[in-house]
Amino acid sequence: MTSAGGDSPEGLLDEQIDYYRAVAAEYENHALPFPGGSKLSEALDAFRPTGSVLELACGPGTWTTQLLQHAADVTAVDASPEMLAIASARVGQQERVRFVSADLFGWRPDRRYDVVFFGFWLSHVPAERFASFWSLVADCLQPDGRVFFVDDGYRTADELIEGERSSTI
Ligand SMILES: C[S@@+](CC[C@H](N)C(=O)[O-])C[C@H]1O[C@@H](n2cnc3c(N)ncnc32)[C@H](O)[C@@H]1O
Repeated sequence: MTSAGGDSPEGLLDEQIDYYRAVAAEYENHALPFPGGSKLSEALDAFRPTGSVLELACGPGTWTTQLLQHAADVTAVDASPEMLAIASARVGQQERVRFVSADLFGWRPDRRYDVVFFGFWLSHVPAERFASFWSLVADCLQPDGRVFFVDDGYRTADELIEGERSSTI
């Protein structure tokens, strides 16, 4: 879970949204060069996210464009309108994409999907919300639906502001 601080779990989650809203314009300058020839990108192509795809925490839409190479349609959710604007500009006028501005810790799906995808999002889910998050994912999926996610667990000492045992960075 990414945050610089906060007094309560809810406060941290709000700060997490505020953080990404504030850095949206420069986010890609600092992000690792995913996707684009990386093993993660190749793995997603091999998985073939076909059918109706739900992307959680889509950010600036780097994965959205790759998902669209396989999917019939993509619904992409993020809490940052700034991120969504960048993602929308990136994919262009596409009837196959629906962007939804929502906080995933309160959002409920209005339908079910063949695939749920999330990139570098699971690490932002606090441990106490882990089970309910996976319950949400289950509620988003068709009975034979599939999930694909990528993330990283690497943390520098500087990031571990509450120590190694805390998930707050
Ligand atoms: C590390 S970025 C990942 C973006 C993108 N998936 C990628 O791989 O580049 C995390 C994203 O989560 C979004 N986010 C943070 N808190 C959220 C929340 N509560 N609900 C929905 N999205 C949230 C941020 O706006 C940001 O776009």
